[in-house]
Amino acid sequence: MCGIVGAVAQRDVTDILVEGLKRLEYRGYDSAGVAVINNNNELFTTKRLGKVQELVQALEQQPLSGGTGIAHTRWATHGAPSEVNAHPHISSNTIAVVHNGIIENHQALRTQLQGLGYEFLSQTDTEVITHLVHHELKTSDNLLAAVQKTVKQLEGAYGTVVMDSRDKDNLIVARSGSPLVIGYGLGENFIASDIMALLPVTRKFSYLEEGDVAQISRFEVKIFDIDGKPVERAAKEVNVSHDSGDKGEYRHFMLKETFEQPTAIRNTLEGRIVAGALDINAFGEGADEIFKQVKHIQIIACGTSYHSGMVARYWLEELAGISCNIEIASEFRYRKSFVPKNSLLVTISQSGETADTLAALRLAKEIGYKSSLVICNVAGSSLVRESDIAFMTKAGAEIGVASTKAFTTQLVGLLMLTVAIGQHNGMSKEKQGEICQSLMSLPAKLDEVLALASSIEELAEDFADKNHALFLGRGDQYPIAMEGALKLKEISYIHAEAYAAGELKHGPLALIDAEMPVIVVAPKNDLIEKLKSNVEEVRARGGLMYVFADSDANFASDDTMKVIDVPVCDDIIAPIVYTLPLQLLSYYVAIIKGTDVDQPRNLAKSVTVE
Ligand code: AGP
Repeated sequence: MCGIVGAVAQRDVTDILVEGLKRLEYRGYDSAGVAVINNNNELFTTKRLGKVQELVQALEQQPLSGGTGIAHTRWATHGAPSEVNAHPHISSNTIAVVHNGIIENHQALRTQLQGLGYEFLSQTDTEVITHLVHHELKTSDNLLAAVQKTVKQLEGAYGTVVMDSRDKDNLIVARSGSPLVIGYGLGENFIASDIMALLPVTRKFSYLEEGDVAQISRFEVKIFDIDGKPVERAAKEVNVSHDSGDKGEYRHFMLKETFEQPTAIRNTLEGRIVAGALDINAFGEGADEIFKQVKHIQIIACGTSYHSGMVARYWLEELAGISCNIEIASEFRYRKSFVPKNSLLVTISQSGETADTLAALRLAKEIGYKSSLVICNVAGSSLVRESDIAFMTKAGAEIGVASTKAFTTQLVGLLMLTVAIGQHNGMSKEKQGEICQSLMSLPAKLDEVLALASSIEELAEDFADKNHALFLGRGDQYPIAMEGALKLKEISYIHAEAYAAGELKHGPLALIDAEMPVIVVAPKNDLIEKLKSNVEEVRARGGLMYVFADSDANFASDDTMKVIDVPVCDDIIAPIVYTLPLQLLSYYVAIIKGTDVDQPRNLAKSVTVE
């Protein structure tokens, strides 16, 4: 979603800001803009609809320079994507503002400010912040005080950066609901919505907390909490590669990240399974005490992360003997739910900033959940900071909007959680060892699966002229079918549905004809004979099938069925193994269709508004 970069330095910051925007492109956006204050205290702004590249071209023709500046990539919420709605927004040629989030009371504030004579140029909610700061500055000692007064009047979510051309030594930033991270340099300091934007200039960061307002200047950062009291927010060095944002030899981030899965899983396992047994420290301090008392697990997540939670429910109930419920965060947060005794709330999120998941966690604490665990890929993110314990997936930066390695590393974490809970619920040592061994076999197994890429690329041609597809699975492969359908629709724009194969005859069978390809995930397991009957139901109605199966499942290709041979693997890790062919299928279909694989239309990587 929207991205923010800001800098106060002695050197010209325009290139730093633009490079930061490029590194935030993966989040999804529709327009971009930059504003800088030059040495003569003049404010200049350039905005463009479309890609950051359009902005770069505009800046080549008319360069901006100055040591203090802010920049933004916008993902439209209020007002269509357009140059005028792009940020930064300006008030009276002096105040410039970028903002992530949604100001819910923007209409009332707009009317009030119009009454004071302010003229609005855009349809955005953000513009109210700009004029409000300008108005408050008339009765405030400085920009910091004006922003502090302004944010008190805002309802909704914001991560915002404000600058004033008459005070080029300072940026004022404020956070409530949308993340902001301060980057510390030598004689220069930075602000961004995501550390990725600042990796070329610093590795030292501190995260603002809810309600914080900060004043950032070249040599000093002052942070104030919601009550205006000065506070410290510990600065930490992060160990993320500067090149995480580089596609390397790959045509797209999604392909690179798909092929990185064996390494991502190896990294996620490293030091967590020792001598064939789970090291409970993988879940952080106090985890074992929490796990000992847990009698029920409630999982909350969105999108792909929700699918990994769905797989986990099969594992937790069957192998760890504990009751488990899973719900989409946007539903959970708006209904009254029952909290079973000794429940553990588990959130799952790649970014750790998904607005609905974060709101669900906060609600869960209010309604009586005593402990919370997050499975997350971003250290220091809001979900990690606000949960009692965390399991960090070590997938590395995931740039493609379509989640790949984050999903499979989440599954690895959830399988470890199954062992961690299971050992307090009578799971035998032998079973624990078996699961750990299967996990350790995964990287090599996934290398075998990735070798199928060229045959899946050929298969993708069958889908290029299709408008719909149906994915089928049973048991723990049903969520994998759902994930396959999500991947296909999100990057190739082909409408895809997933069904638990047993549900076919209750409706979707009516859709079957030669124009509806049916993709089946079919490892040999206890449900294979049931699944085969469902496959026959499709075949009898003239459906065209693509079956991903291992040799033990005994499917044979013929006129109505193409079988793609997936390496035989242990049952327990089959959901992870069968995910990769579906990721590759959607990737190659998208390539044929010529869609924007890494930044599919209308989507954002990190969904920080609800
Ligand atoms: C899937 O490919 C998505 N990009 C999307 O569904 C994503 O999983 C969802 O928005 C949740 O994000 P999170 O894991 O960062 O919370």
